[in-house]
Amino acid sequence: AVSPAIAKGLAGVVVDTTAISKVVPETNTLTYRGYPVQDLAVHCSFEQVAYLLWSGELPNPDEVARFVERERAARRADRSLIGLVTKLPENCHPMDVVRTAISYLGAEDPEEDDNSPTADHAKALRMMAVLPTVIAVDHRRRHGLDPIPPCPDLGFAENFLHMCFGEVPEPEIVRAFEMSLILYAEHSFNASTFTARVVTSTLSDIYSAVTAAIGALKGPLHGGANEAVMHDMLAIGDPENAERWLRDKLSRKEKVMGFGHRVYKDGDSRVPTMRDAFFAVADRTDGEKWVQIYRILEDTMYEATGIKPNLDFPTGPAYYLMGFDIEMFTPIFVMARITGWTAHVIEQLESNALIRPLSEYNGVPQRTVRS
Ligand code: CMC
Repeated sequence: AVSPAIAKGLAGVVVDTTAISKVVPETNTLTYRGYPVQDLAVHCSFEQVAYLLWSGELPNPDEVARFVERERAARRADRSLIGLVTKLPENCHPMDVVRTAISYLGAEDPEEDDNSPTADHAKALRMMAVLPTVIAVDHRRRHGLDPIPPCPDLGFAENFLHMCFGEVPEPEIVRAFEMSLILYAEHSFNASTFTARVVTSTLSDIYSAVTAAIGALKGPLHGGANEAVMHDMLAIGDPENAERWLRDKLSRKEKVMGFGHRVYKDGDSRVPTMRDAFFAVADRTDGEKWVQIYRILEDTMYEATGIKPNLDFPTGPAYYLMGFDIEMFTPIFVMARITGWTAHVIEQLESNALIRPLSEYNGVPQRTVRS
């Protein structure tokens, strides 16, 4: 039996302070540096939100222009990085490619161990800028297609879509994609961010922290849920099957991916914005069937359990309708969350304490080695 002093899964435990984001489950709010995330999703570009997360303030026009220029100048992946990506097995998960690429960027950087805020800001911007190129190269090689170089005339979201598909889709689709990035960018001490902070607390480097965070995000209880949602929706296939599928799953006591949350118990604050963005994408891509399945699952789940969807529920079908392979959904989450992770790495170093909890031993009592 587990003693009552043990906070399994660290549930309900406050481990440190942060000035980056605030989640208030009672009022369903999430703010980044004080700004409600749904307002940022409507009014800002992803680049402005990255700047906000890192610096604490939204940029003025001059600041954003300089920031965007630096981001666009850092998008190219050099030949050795592209060579590394293309050497990895084509049937490995794209999250393995992303994890390996970040680790490689660290190995390549002579300043890897400079943990000063200036150095870490520069590294964070470089990772944010080059990662979409890596993901797009990987996507295209899996389809037997040549890479498309980044385009310095396009914004972050548009450029990624262009590098994947060879064209920029209509503005409503780009906007929905960009909103998803803004909503995914940061979420306080979630599992992957906490992982990054644990690694940083040993005074390891920012690439190691991000590599570890990617490993944590991959799991289906965290970022991997957006992929699982779409696999489930495809298995359901038709709105007619949705209610039965869900009730069968619940009767087997299985978790339904894309529902529930450790912190929000009455709905994820990011869902209404992303649900509208998904519906807008569905309108333009003949996606009515997925909207119907979405609604039936949401209603049936709520009626049967009182549990509401989390952000991965609308992003799954939205990314599918945008044309992404399902295995790319979690790498896209990385593209966004890398801003939050790196903001937390820098914050952790401002007042670091080694993160090293205790455990209660429940193995065999002490015994003697007999030779
Ligand atoms: N489907 C069915 N039952 C659920 C679900 C679900 N998705 N989520 C929670 N429950 C039930 C659970 O079975 C338990 O019931 P009981 O008390 O009868 O055993 C109760 O609700 C509490 O659940 P829990 O798993 O103990 O709560 P938690 O805080 O550890 O879980 C969670 C949080 C996200 C791990 C869980 O809700 C889950 O596994 N959801 C599915 C995976 C998912 O969608 N993850 C994405 C999370 S949010 C965005 C992100 O990080 O990417």
